[in-house]
Amino acid sequence: MASTNVIKRRLLVLGGSGYVGQAVCRAALQSSAFDVVRSLSRSGAPTSSSMGGLSRVEWAKGDVFDTPALSDVMSNDIDIVISVIGAFGSNEYMQRICGDATIDAVRVARDIGGKGRITAFGFVSSAQVYDGSLALCLPPAAPMYGYFQGKRRAEEELLKSFPNNHVILRPGFVYGARNVGGRTIPLQYVGGPIDYVGRNLGPISSLLQMVPFVGKELSSMVPVESVANAMIGSVRKVADGDNDGKGIIMDAEMIRSC
Ligand SMILES: NC(=O)c1ccc[n+]([C@@H]2O[C@H](COP(=O)([O-])OP(=O)(O)OC[C@H]3O[C@@H](n4cnc5c(N)ncnc54)[C@H](OP(=O)(O)O)[C@@H]3O)[C@@H](O)[C@H]2O)c1
Repeated sequence: MASTNVIKRRLLVLGGSGYVGQAVCRAALQSSAFDVVRSLSRSGAPTSSSMGGLSRVEWAKGDVFDTPALSDVMSNDIDIVISVIGAFGSNEYMQRICGDATIDAVRVARDIGGKGRITAFGFVSSAQVYDGSLALCLPPAAPMYGYFQGKRRAEEELLKSFPNNHVILRPGFVYGARNVGGRTIPLQYVGGPIDYVGRNLGPISSLLQMVPFVGKELSSMVPVESVANAMIGSVRKVADGDNDGKGIIMDAEMIRSC
């Protein structure tokens, strides 16, 4: 009788208790490809009302900037790491949470990876991070400067530290049901129609897409499940060496097709 030897992976999701993070954890569990799905965030497990289908996640509580704690939670038995850490605030704060948090985690993972442990590192970046992007030319005092520059720096570190084992997703607005303070906000009822207008109304969509910055956002909206599935599918591919030994970078169109 033929036996199937499927290697079960062990996943750490940094920020797994957040909106995108929960979808990533759910997609990981549904894939049945993981023995362990662990999340690290300061608050630990999300509130019970948003826990649907996530009871098998190991919820660790901690700050990603606490390097010994991060090393501990990562080095225990993990072989794939995904960072979905992020926040909005002052430019300085966003440089730290949207940039430095992932940069620190990538470096910790790289040093553990030196022993052959971490086989893939995934990161959710932004649709506005690409060569020639206007968002990356904003002056330092502009709102969102820290967000985009933080994302850009995190991408650079990931490409440097995991040249063949990175997964970078660049979605625009991510829509779906979002839990805010115990209430579910159905963002899909806003994101879905705007996404449609931005991409499916022929010349009108083409005109809108030509508006600097806004056009890119309009054409880059994606459902949260697509982001999660694209991430899980891609990290598995990279970890298994099924992508010709190369990393993966996906824009919104590629994410939607997953
Ligand atoms: N939502 C979108 O439309 C969208 C679009 C494009 C890209 N993205 C990117 O996708 C990622 C996730 O977005 P999201 O909407 O899911 O954000 P979110 O709901 O605010 O989730 C952020 C997660 O990061 C954790 N976190 C923040 N600071 C941390 C720290 N110092 N140590 C440990 N964990 C920390 C948060 O948990 P604690 O606060 O409990 O620590 C939370 O679990 C972000 O990087 C965002 O930029 C989102």
